[in-house]
Amino acid sequence: MSTFWSLWVMVLVTFNLGLAFTLFVWGQRVEIPVQPDGTTGHIWAHGVLREGLRKLPLWWVLFSAALFVFGIVYFVRYPGFGSFKGTLGWTEYSKLASDRAVNIGKLQNLLQSYEGQTLAQLATNTQVLAMGERLYIDNCAACHGRDALGNHTLGTPNLIDTEALYGNDEATLMSSILNGRSGIMPPLGAVLTDANITATAHYVRSLSGLSHDAAQAQAGQTTFMTLCAACHTPQGTGNPLLGAPNLTDDIWLQDSDLGTIEASIRNGRNGKMPAWNARLGEPSARLIGAWLYARQQANQ
Ligand code: HEC
Ligand code: HEC
Repeated sequence: MSTFWSLWVMVLVTFNLGLAFTLFVWGQRVEIPVQPDGTTGHIWAHGVLREGLRKLPLWWVLFSAALFVFGIVYFVRYPGFGSFKGTLGWTEYSKLASDRAVNIGKLQNLLQSYEGQTLAQLATNTQVLAMGERLYIDNCAACHGRDALGNHTLGTPNLIDTEALYGNDEATLMSSILNGRSGIMPPLGAVLTDANITATAHYVRSLSGLSHDAAQAQAGQTTFMTLCAACHTPQGTGNPLLGAPNLTDDIWLQDSDLGTIEASIRNGRNGKMPAWNARLGEPSARLIGAWLYARQQANQ
């Protein structure tokens, strides 16, 4: 708060509190002329209503005085009087920080109680699944989709099918999440002619039993064995060590049309899965792992 606004608030507070207090004191001492009939002489409704005069009840006076004391003590102890911080040093930030610390402590205890359980064991716990789903939606859904079915536009894998780029076992899954992955398919546009690329794409489609030109596919097979088999294996079944996808199962990172496959060959692909260890930590990441495991089981 700038000095001007701080002073402005101080002036307003002092003026309002001072005015209210002055009225409070003055109201009890001021002499109000009383008529012989004991009223103030104010008359309404043609004399039916006449204003009497009573002293304020003691409880009301004491209660109001207590409120003034409370107000002043508050302004001394807590922030509120301009930029004066209050003698207690209380801030919303410190309150937030201490509330957060309490919550983190609770979470830590909960996560500790899950230690040593496999994903399969964790996946039987509904509380784990609820937290895992929430964490998944916050951190992963943007790329892998709300239902973990993957996204062809982004080239992200389905996480709950039987096929995995790197492997479906617990250690591999957790390593993918905690350390991230980077699949590298080199661009081959410079070493292949367009006709070559098209022929190879026909061959790739034939591997998954998709419609293709048989003669083209046969020509493409030669290129595939020379340039692609090293990573995707001669059968095209993929290599989990490289994250090279199985090309024979009709499960795709990108779309499976001829043009998209040609683009993969020509320009390469580099699917990047960010590492989550720093942001989530292993105990929280395992909650997501458990949720994915449960979804995988339900999906089979
Ligand atoms: C920025 C987009 C992005 C986000 C966010 C993201 N991922 Fe990924 N993820 C990818 C991509 C791309 C791949 C494929 C990497 C490759 O091709 O090597 C991948 C791969 C994976 C794999 C390996 C799958 C397999 O078949 O072996 C797992 C498991 C995974 N992600 C889980 C997660 C989880 C859990 C989260 C949230 C904590 C997450 N991802 C967040 C983009 C993302
Ligand atoms: C150096 C290893 C390597 C070589 C060589 C290689 N690939 Fe790949 N390929 C990969 C990897 C890794 C991916 C996954 C890329 C990603 O995660 O985005 C991939 C992805 C693909 C895809 C996309 C699959 C999908 O599910 O959408 C196609 C199609 C493909 N490769 C075909 C080929 C063909 C055809 C060749 C030969 C002309 C070839 N690759 C050569 C490693 C390789």
